[in-house]
Amino acid sequence: MKDILTADFMVEMIRTVSNMYDHGWDERNGGNVSLMLDEKETSDYLQRQTVLRTIPTGFAAPELEGKTFLVTGTGKYFKNVKYAPEVNLGIVRLKDGGKQAELLWGFTDGGQFTSEFPAHMMSHAARLKADPENRVVMHCHPENLLAMTYVHDLDERQFTRTLWQMCTECIVVFPDGVNVLPWMLCGTNEIGEATAEKMKTARLVIWSQHGVYGAGKNLDETFGLIETAEKAAEIFMKIAHLPRVNTITDEQMHLLEKRFGVQAREGWLD
Ligand code: 13P
Ligand code: ZN
Repeated sequence: MKDILTADFMVEMIRTVSNMYDHGWDERNGGNVSLMLDEKETSDYLQRQTVLRTIPTGFAAPELEGKTFLVTGTGKYFKNVKYAPEVNLGIVRLKDGGKQAELLWGFTDGGQFTSEFPAHMMSHAARLKADPENRVVMHCHPENLLAMTYVHDLDERQFTRTLWQMCTECIVVFPDGVNVLPWMLCGTNEIGEATAEKMKTARLVIWSQHGVYGAGKNLDETFGLIETAEKAAEIFMKIAHLPRVNTITDEQMHLLEKRFGVQAREGWLD
């Protein structure tokens, strides 16, 4: 077996969570990331028949039966992942219709996957239906998106239109817009189900007064998605208290759609 700490998926995960921490998105143990792994990616690095522990998940996700995920641990600090990946990360495989997770690697201090595992797994199932290439679900607490949920209408169309108007590239990066959940208790199956429902129509889901969820094909793309929305929110928070003299018009948004070959969420542009 090759050293798993040299595997591309591991190197990329460690870099990504370190970068998220450096961006200030993941104070203390804030945030969590899960990456679905293909069997061929892991076969050189993992004894897939050796199960270290079996951990009940508390929910069912039959669509994900047999799927393997590299996932951050509950209570773990992203700033520490690069120093002790085997403590702060784990690789689990779902079985019994998603009700059990077999630990194949990591969580060496007896820890387990993030408390937001329901939202992650249910979102993976929802996004895979929308895009079979989806591999990543990412949650974090970026300050401007969070701040916006205190001062902006939480209507999804309005919230999205404001973000689209803040930087020219936004509509190109997330033409599906953002969906928004009201404040809900985190770490529960209920918020997991609600997040997955919202993931059916957008790759970004705002958790009001808490943070954001993003989904994508790889870690870079998902990071970039959140980064772009957070940048837009930052600009909004800089200008919200000032008179708006200029904006990006819907007519200009339509030009961007044509130029970049994207289609804005139906009915969200005039
Ligand atoms: P975990 O430490 O369990 O991943 O929780 C962090 C968090 O952001 C909860 O929403
Ligand atoms: Zn959180």
